[in-house]
Amino acid sequence: MDGASKRERLEGVTAEVRACRLCPLHEGRMNPVVGGGSLDSPLVLVGEAPGRKEDEQGKPFVGSAGKLLDSMLEEANLERSKLFITNIVKCRPPNNRRPLSKEVRACSTHLETLLGIISPRVIAPMGNSSTGHFLRMFGLEKAKIGDIHGNVFRVEASWGDVILFPLYHPAAVLYNRTLEQELKDDFAALRRLLEG
Ligand code: URA
Repeated sequence: MDGASKRERLEGVTAEVRACRLCPLHEGRMNPVVGGGSLDSPLVLVGEAPGRKEDEQGKPFVGSAGKLLDSMLEEANLERSKLFITNIVKCRPPNNRRPLSKEVRACSTHLETLLGIISPRVIAPMGNSSTGHFLRMFGLEKAKIGDIHGNVFRVEASWGDVILFPLYHPAAVLYNRTLEQELKDDFAALRRLLEG
């Protein structure tokens, strides 16, 4: 798919998300957050759901978890503008609660369309909710992020072979600084994976 068709298809998903009424989360949102970055990226980072700042700006990871993510990317020498970042749920849940599984299921059509456009070689879900969604999607055994972060899972997506590489959610590091080095090490391994 060439760049122009990818951009056109992204506009299509964006319009679908703006008009989406598949779950009640659209009722409380200011702006849906479809995602942002390069449509040619070999890597898609997938968080949980927009928070307050993301909802205000319509962009992913622009609040405090985003700042932490930016510092991790910089340290791993990964340029944010060359990656694509999105969430499993496109609208902010009330009071930043975790999205319900029915909301994640309802939103998965948007996520799958988006991933199909980008067709990444690596998907890095960040945190338990996002990782759980992808383990289910690819028929893998349920597991906690603490047990499988930094592990490589080879799976088959509709566009080809994909590596699933679960990471801690950057917000988890904000609450528990002992996870910081582990997340840094995982981002360094992710960088090597992309180079390999
Ligand atoms: N947390 C997420 O999971 N996603 C965002 O976009 C921001 C914070």
